[in-house]
Amino acid sequence: MKLFIDTANIEEIKEVASWGVICGVTTNPSLIAKEGRSLSDVVEEIVSIVDGPISAEVMGDMSEQMVEEAEVLAKIHKNIVIKIPMTKEGLKAVSILSKKGINTNVTLVFSANQALLAAKAGATYVSPFVGRMDDLGNSGLNIIEEIVEIFDMHGINTEIIAASIRHTMHVTDCAMRGAHISTVPYNVLEKMLHHPMTDKGIERFKKDAGVK
Ligand code: E4P
Repeated sequence: MKLFIDTANIEEIKEVASWGVICGVTTNPSLIAKEGRSLSDVVEEIVSIVDGPISAEVMGDMSEQMVEEAEVLAKIHKNIVIKIPMTKEGLKAVSILSKKGINTNVTLVFSANQALLAAKAGATYVSPFVGRMDDLGNSGLNIIEEIVEIFDMHGINTEIIAASIRHTMHVTDCAMRGAHISTVPYNVLEKMLHHPMTDKGIERFKKDAGVK
């Protein structure tokens, strides 16, 4: 399973890129708004830090608007992936963009059927929202499992990005269920790094070796 970072914060992206563990970035309109900058400014900077898929979301409701926005964003860099919400108009846009060779990430996916439709329209990626599903009292992980099984069974190449990751166990669980990618917020990546026994072990090795 590949790891992406789910943020629009440049410092977080730089930091995690330096660990060598991420190969892509996902942003969304809320994350961009938090930075107080325009989407194009942010993604232009991100492509210079991470050499991998960078998702940038369109805001239009109609397929024509989405395609128009997508074409502008796609010109920024070859690694830009157009994030499109899972709607009827979104599917139309995905279908048009896939024929133009523009990569797409269908977002706000909450069921296996939505993922199947997105894949059939030609999506490069689908993003089921694990945490937001859990919030509703449904298991986000079950949806990941179903999509993985369906895509495997039917030889569908669309990659599954487990999104809306809230804690470290989500990452482990999505990996165990065969998600191709997890897009993980900075604070969760930080927590994945640490274990109290690792810190204790380092302390003891240093003490035994007489290193201060
Ligand atoms: C997906 O690509 C989204 O950016 C993100 O994972 C949403 O997560 P949230 O539910 O924590 O906002």
